[in-house]
Amino acid sequence: MSARRLHVLIFGAVFAAAVVLASLGYLSLRRWEHAAELQLREQARDTVTMAAEKVEMAVVRAEQDGVASLQAAALAPGFGPAAVDAWRAAHPLFDAVYLCDRDGHVLYPVRVSPDDVQSIAALRGEISEGFWERGGRRHLEAGGRVILAAVIPGASGPGAPPGPLLLGLRRDEQTLRRDVLAQVLGGPEGKSALVVLDGRGRSVFSSGSLESAAPVLTVPFGEALPAWRVALYQPAGLSPRDMVRRQTVIFMAAFALLLGVIGAGLVATYRLQRRESEIARLKSDFVANVSHDLKTPLSLIRMFAETLEMDRVPDERRRREYYGVITRESERLTRLIDNVLDFSRIESGRQRYDLTVGPIEPIVHDVLDSFRHPLEQRGFTLDVGIAPDLPDVAVDAEAMKQALANLLDNAMKYSADRGKITVVARAEQGGVALEVADQGIGIPVAEQERIFEKFYRVGRSETQGRRGSGVGLALVKHIVEAHHGRVTVESRPGEGSRFTLYLPAPEPGAV
Ligand SMILES: Nc1ncnc2c1ncn2[C@@H]1O[C@H](COP(=O)(O)OP(=O)(O)O)[C@@H](O)[C@H]1O
Ligand SMILES: [Mg+2]
Repeated sequence: MSARRLHVLIFGAVFAAAVVLASLGYLSLRRWEHAAELQLREQARDTVTMAAEKVEMAVVRAEQDGVASLQAAALAPGFGPAAVDAWRAAHPLFDAVYLCDRDGHVLYPVRVSPDDVQSIAALRGEISEGFWERGGRRHLEAGGRVILAAVIPGASGPGAPPGPLLLGLRRDEQTLRRDVLAQVLGGPEGKSALVVLDGRGRSVFSSGSLESAAPVLTVPFGEALPAWRVALYQPAGLSPRDMVRRQTVIFMAAFALLLGVIGAGLVATYRLQRRESEIARLKSDFVANVSHDLKTPLSLIRMFAETLEMDRVPDERRRREYYGVITRESERLTRLIDNVLDFSRIESGRQRYDLTVGPIEPIVHDVLDSFRHPLEQRGFTLDVGIAPDLPDVAVDAEAMKQALANLLDNAMKYSADRGKITVVARAEQGGVALEVADQGIGIPVAEQERIFEKFYRVGRSETQGRRGSGVGLALVKHIVEAHHGRVTVESRPGEGSRFTLYLPAPEPGAV
């Protein structure tokens, strides 16, 4: 009992540990999930911010170069529209150039289109007096386009326009895309794509395929690209959330598997332990039952022998009878001991059968002869039906006798006294079927499989005053199977049982 309690305790401890492990694992997984997602998001943000800064720097540098070279041209003698045209050819990033003096004269372009009028108005409107004084640069928007405004010193030569001049450079999106964005953002970026979006959210440029990709986050550019943003697109399943989720699922699955294995281990251990203690119980029952089984014939033998020894039986007929009892009980004793010995030989795999082809009839008669007297004594009717011309079968005579004796012993043991026992031998499919039927207590259907297991006894047969070791039918089964045959049982509780041994026809060429 205390061993049992110890087992329960150990199981409980392992189970509790598993539960604690599972909950701790779950909690830390949750926390990790959150942190990991934040970190991945942070990484993505760094990537995008860096890309935005690089683009912005490239744009600003291109603009600075442009302004510087135009400024240099403006300071050169003979600066005029032709010089600006020449400059434009070398700076395709700008698709429009505006030059005004402080008095509002448009020096470039020479012919002003309505589009230009709008841009120049915006340029003038945005520029304050202070800007003229201080100089510098700023970006402004006109008609959805970005224009860089700068004040440059004018030329000083004769015929040159008086400085300073207000310069407007309008960026060409095509060229920006090709010369700046593609240069800076291009190149393989793994599976994610960087997308530049304009003020209306339209994609201006993308560094990779957007198929089945979704925006993860967007970052605005600085002042040089007002209202534009860079977005990081990641294919479905590659976003930080998806990645973290996948990891979590894998962890959870591994965890569940671990718990499952622990659970299965517990169950297996429990089963094994139960089986072990069941076998231990069966074995101790077996020893007690065998000892008791042996005791009955022994005490009978002793009693009758002592009576005879003391010469207390004057009647010759009675004396014969007593000798008969002693002989029969010794036979029974031998059978019981053989059962146990054979069983132990089978268990250790040492049992050998010596099959010889021959008639089955003498074997059946031999067994019946040794049972006739005890059956008669206990009021049984024996009904024997042995078909003529039974085919010969391959048998180990001793083993087959033992099997039959076990069936007859059971038929007697598990019948209310005064029943009928039928023994039939008939030909069947070239072989022989041996039947032993009784009108005894019968066997519940649920038990009919198990009675052939070693040590197995139905219910608590001993409470019904019937002792036994529980190895008889296991032995019968082993014996017929060694004869390539089989044993079946038909039984109904309260009505009786019929055990049938099927022995097949000997294989051609068998001895
Ligand atoms: N003819 C029968 N009628 C009813 N029950 C039987 C019969 N033969 C066997 N059994 C049941 O099958 C069990 C196993 O039989 P067996 O292996 O011979 O062991 P044992 O006879 O030593 O108990 C018996 O305990 C009994 O419950
Ligand atoms: Mg038996």
